[in-house]
Amino acid sequence: MYFTLTEEQQMIQETARSFAQTLKPGVIERDEHAAFPTEFVKQMAELGFMGMMVDENYNGAGLDTLSYAIALEEIAKIDASTAVIMSAHNSLVLYGLAAFGTEEQKEKYLKPLANGNKLGAFALSEPEAGSDATSQHTTAVDKGDHYLLNGTKNWITNGGTADIYLIIAQTHQEKGHRGINVFIVEKGMPGFSIGPKENKLGIRSSDTHSLLFDDVKVSKANRIGEDGFGFKFAMLTLDGGRIGIAAQALGIAAGAYELSIAYAKERETFGKPIAQHQAIQFKLADMETEIEAARLLTYKAAWLKDQGKPYAKAAAMAKLYASEVAMKTTIEAVQIHGGYGYVKEYHVERLMRDAKITQIYEGTSEIQRLVIAREVLK
Ligand code: CAA
Repeated sequence: MYFTLTEEQQMIQETARSFAQTLKPGVIERDEHAAFPTEFVKQMAELGFMGMMVDENYNGAGLDTLSYAIALEEIAKIDASTAVIMSAHNSLVLYGLAAFGTEEQKEKYLKPLANGNKLGAFALSEPEAGSDATSQHTTAVDKGDHYLLNGTKNWITNGGTADIYLIIAQTHQEKGHRGINVFIVEKGMPGFSIGPKENKLGIRSSDTHSLLFDDVKVSKANRIGEDGFGFKFAMLTLDGGRIGIAAQALGIAAGAYELSIAYAKERETFGKPIAQHQAIQFKLADMETEIEAARLLTYKAAWLKDQGKPYAKAAAMAKLYASEVAMKTTIEAVQIHGGYGYVKEYHVERLMRDAKITQIYEGTSEIQRLVIAREVLK
């Protein structure tokens, strides 16, 4: 068992770390104005981060999941919004297209997505289908050579900025989850419109929208997989997505922790730096231990995926634990910073707001427990 990153993984970590430093100067302003980091997404494309795990034949960087998790962690330390844009694009869109798309779909859609010329979004959630993902109300009626899509999707990451969307919809109501399909939909298709941007608590510079479908005509060539494969596609996609969110949560926690250490060494009370008070040391020790445990769970889930071994349980465990650590660590980071922690300039209040979503999206903590328990009881 090796706990050392390869030279290539270390290089990716360094690259992501330096890139993340360039995100820092504007991060408070982007959060405040909910401004999408367009230029930075372009730079991530140039670095190969927008197609990290896609084969080089399809314009990807051909890297492993562990490298992806390491890069996400570094970016999320500074800017969790930019991290989730990268995560949704890579984990939720590129993975499924690469794994289950036809050659034609890969040529047409995967290639421009994997080099970052286009941005992707994945749409499963609906006003009445979040945790209960089988309860899809968006319909895709089979019209012979095409489908007609009708319905609404909610809380879609990259919803306004994406060019290519993977849409989950119900085709055969009577078959339940076995009647669900997944479609590739392009921005601008007649009848497809984008709802207003959500005004969120955290990850404010990633854009989140509803999507509206009114008789959108989608060619049969744009269905991924066999008829009825959509729900399984979504579940398999989310298994990998949870590794990305675990890495994002890990980064948020580690970012808040690094800021707390620097602050605790600098800030003095009762005649000495607060880092010399046991009350602070206990907090830092807990943070260090919990972050390391979250990192090990996240890296292990990524490693299992890279080894071609089952990873659904490991991914859910990593996401569950890392998101709880992110929440706890960022609350403690604000506490360590005292009054300074409550104002924007010190970054930790933003990280605390950003942490919360990691316990909600790609399955709430309760859903992760359900996934883990089902695997254990199988
Ligand atoms: N891999 C492969 N197949 C799976 C699977 C997995 N991980 N999980 C379930 N399935 C299959 C089952 O085998 C079953 O197939 P068969 O009937 O053919 O045997 C089928 O899917 C239905 O499974 P269940 O009966 O277990 O389904 P369920 O309705 O009881 O619930 C659930 C499953 C785990 C709760 C699921 O609904 C779930 O994960 N919900 C959460 C959804 C979620 O994460 N939403 C987040 C939206 S995306 C997002 O947040 C993106 C973003 O913003 C960044």
